[in-house]
Amino acid sequence: GPVLHFLADPGEGDDPACWQYFEDGALLIENGLIRRCGTWDAVLRDLPNTTRYTARLFDYHGKLIMPGLIDTHVHYPQMRVMGAFGRQLLDWLNEHTFPAEESFADPRVADATASFFLDRLLANGTTTASVYGTVHAHSVDAFFRAAQARKLRMLCGKVMMDRNCPTGLRDTAATSLEDCSALIERWHGKDRLRYSVTPRFAITSTPEQLQVAGELFRSRPDMHLQTHLSENLDEIRFVQQLFPDSKGYLDVYDRFGMLGRGAIYGHGIHMSEAERARMAETESAIAFCPTSNRFLGSGLFDYPASTAAGVKVGLASDVGGGTSLSLLRTLGAAYEVGQSLGQVLSPWRAWYLATLGGAKALALEDRIGNFAEGKEADFVVLSLQSPAELQFRAEYTTRIDERLFALMALGDDRSVHATHVLGECVHKALS
Ligand code: GUN
Ligand code: FE
Repeated sequence: GPVLHFLADPGEGDDPACWQYFEDGALLIENGLIRRCGTWDAVLRDLPNTTRYTARLFDYHGKLIMPGLIDTHVHYPQMRVMGAFGRQLLDWLNEHTFPAEESFADPRVADATASFFLDRLLANGTTTASVYGTVHAHSVDAFFRAAQARKLRMLCGKVMMDRNCPTGLRDTAATSLEDCSALIERWHGKDRLRYSVTPRFAITSTPEQLQVAGELFRSRPDMHLQTHLSENLDEIRFVQQLFPDSKGYLDVYDRFGMLGRGAIYGHGIHMSEAERARMAETESAIAFCPTSNRFLGSGLFDYPASTAAGVKVGLASDVGGGTSLSLLRTLGAAYEVGQSLGQVLSPWRAWYLATLGGAKALALEDRIGNFAEGKEADFVVLSLQSPAELQFRAEYTTRIDERLFALMALGDDRSVHATHVLGECVHKALS
C-alpha cells in the first residue's frame, strides 16, 4: 500500500527532499525491524534470494502506512479528568487533577488505568509516548508492566512533588531519590522501556528536590527528563515568587542541571528569545500541546518561532489537560492554533511533527520515527474511509497533500485502520 515517512523536517518551505512517498509502497520487516522501505517492485527485487523466507504479507491497499505516532507528553493517571469543566491551570490542578491522582494510592486503580490507557493509545495509532505517572512509585511499575506486555517503546517516570500539593501526594527530596533510583534500576533500558525523571514543575518541588532531579538526569547518558514550563501566566508569576533569584522560569531548571539532550518540556508557550536560544543550545525539546493549551486557556504556542530558534519540538496530547488521545485531532488543533497566529502548519510539517519530530524531541531517533533501515517497525495504517465526512472529502481529491490535510483536519481514531508494533498487528479496526 501507500507508504509515507520523513527523513528530516520539511521546514517552512515544504522541502520534498525531506520525505519519501511511495504510492505503490512496501515495507520489508525482519525480526521486528525495518529491513527495507520503497516501492513494491524495488523491495521485491531486493529480497535476498539466498535466504528462504517464510514471509507473512499484510495488504494495505487503499490505506496509508506511516510510522507509529509519538505522543511526547501525556499523563496516564488523568484519563478520568479529560474534559473537566472549570478554570485555568492552577485551579484545574487543585480541583480535578490532584484528587484523580490521589486515587492511585490504590495499585489496582493504577493497573486498570495503565491497561486501558495503552489500549486506547494503540487504537489511536500512537506507539510511543512520554508518560507521567503519579507520585506513587507503583504507578510507574503498573505502567511499565502493561507497556512491557505489549512490547512497546515507552518512557515513564514517577512524579516528584514535595510542596504546594495535597499531603497525600507529597514525597520528599530524599524519598523521591530513593524511589526513582529503584525504578531506574528496575526498568530503565529493560526491553524497550526508558525512565524519564519527572519533577512535576517548579511550583511543586523544593530546590532540594530539583537538585535531586538534575542529578538523576545527569547520572546516565541515556536518561530522560520531563516537566512543565511556561504554560500559564499565573504559574509563571508563582514560580518567580518561589525562585526570586532566577532570571526566569527556564533558568530555574537550568540552575539545577535539568537541560540537555533527552529533556523535554511541556508547553513552553510564554518564552523569551533568550530562553529559546538556551533550549536550542542545550538540545532540550518542547512538547507542543495544542488541545490542552486551548482547553485550559493557556495561550498560543508559536511553533515556527521555536523551530526557527533551533529548538526541537514534538507533538503532545497532554491528556487530561488535552481533550483527545488522537494525534490526528491534536494536529488539527495545532493547525488551528497556527491560523490564530497568522501562521500555516502545512500537512507535511504536521505529519513530520507527529512522527520523526517527536522521535527527535525524545532523543529516540536512532530507534523510531521513520522507516530507515534498522529502525523498529512500529507503524500505523490510516484509512481515508472513516469517518464518513472524511471519506466524502477525500473522494473529492487524489492529491496526497490534500488527503494528508483532510486526515488531520477531519480524522480521529476512526481513521486508524490498524496499528503494528515490531511488525505485529496489535490493533485492527472492525470495519
Ligand atoms: N503543570 C503541572 N502539572 C500539570 C498537569 O498535570 N497538566 C498540565 N497541563 N500542566 C501542568
Ligand atoms: Fe502536562
